[in-house]
Amino acid sequence: MIEITNLTKQYKNGFKANKEISLNISPGEIFGLLGPNGAGKTTLVNQLIGLLKPTSGSIVINGVDVVADPASSRRLCSLQPQSQIPIDGLTPKEAIELSGRIRGMDKKTARHRTDELIQRLQLEQWAQLRGENLSGGVRRLTAFCMTCVAPAKVLVLDEPTNDVDPERRRLLWKEVKAIANGGCTIILVTHNVLEAERSTDRLGILHNGRLIRQGTPGSFRDKEEDNMILELTLEPGKNPAGIISQESNALRLGQRILCPVKIGEVIERVSWANDLKKNRLIEEFSINPPSLEEAYLRIVGIGGSNNAQEN
Ligand SMILES: Nc1ncnc2c1ncn2[C@@H]1O[C@H](COP(=O)(O)OP(=O)(O)OP(=O)(O)O)[C@@H](O)[C@H]1O
Ligand SMILES: [Mg+2]
Repeated sequence: MIEITNLTKQYKNGFKANKEISLNISPGEIFGLLGPNGAGKTTLVNQLIGLLKPTSGSIVINGVDVVADPASSRRLCSLQPQSQIPIDGLTPKEAIELSGRIRGMDKKTARHRTDELIQRLQLEQWAQLRGENLSGGVRRLTAFCMTCVAPAKVLVLDEPTNDVDPERRRLLWKEVKAIANGGCTIILVTHNVLEAERSTDRLGILHNGRLIRQGTPGSFRDKEEDNMILELTLEPGKNPAGIISQESNALRLGQRILCPVKIGEVIERVSWANDLKKNRLIEEFSINPPSLEEAYLRIVGIGGSNNAQEN
């Protein structure tokens, strides 16, 4: 459905935000795009939907060369942008229905689908409030509904769950899956690795403008298959230097320390963690199979600090 080949985007100031990206996405697939701030995710999706012109490379959607014909990519794709859509003066119900009408739905169908989305995302209590009086999360959900009221062949969601509460996130993912089951191809840009792991069929990691890895969520984890992860949560205010210095391969994430542990060493390491807990150096610990989050952090570094992939 989407074929991206050697895509490079250099901004006017000379900065290359996308470098030689090649990627194919199948119809009905939910493809997640992960990467630290500034990795080039929004730049990539803005080229897909024809808002930005690539410097070089090609993008073909549903057999159409959309670089040559950007108007067709706006027809083939619907985008929920990362920035909030202004809907002042309209209620969510009006804004969603209007989006459906703009996408060519007849009045009755647009109204029916609008009511369905409002009910599925539990937005009833805000459906008749004017846009300027809505909370950030409800605005974001309204933008999501506006994007998928009449989904095009490709749905591009750039950080759709920012500011959204956990229960409505779950409802949003359920709706995304329903739309993909209807044959729509979905590109999801996110920072939330746990959501990406649960909600996507395949993932790509962008880092410093390059697509450095792609595969199913499981394929990222399999690389670490002889390890388990011992997760320690530090007592507030405790200095972790002693713990971290013993753990050459440990990752520190705020109060959490993730230590890879060989399967044969699990019992010994659990006993060590138990001693740390007794001595009140840590609040708690757990032992888990490697997660996508751990694999992702090892690839890009904390906050995207790994520069090994940069040219
Ligand atoms: N118009 C522009 N001119 C110059 N540089 C730009 C422009 N727009 C974006 N950039 C730079 O390109 C890089 C990639 O930006 P982009 O918005 O694509 O990142 P992102 O992966 O979406 O980040 P985030 O997760 O923060 O949304 C950043 O370093 C950004 O500062
Ligand atoms: Mg972005």
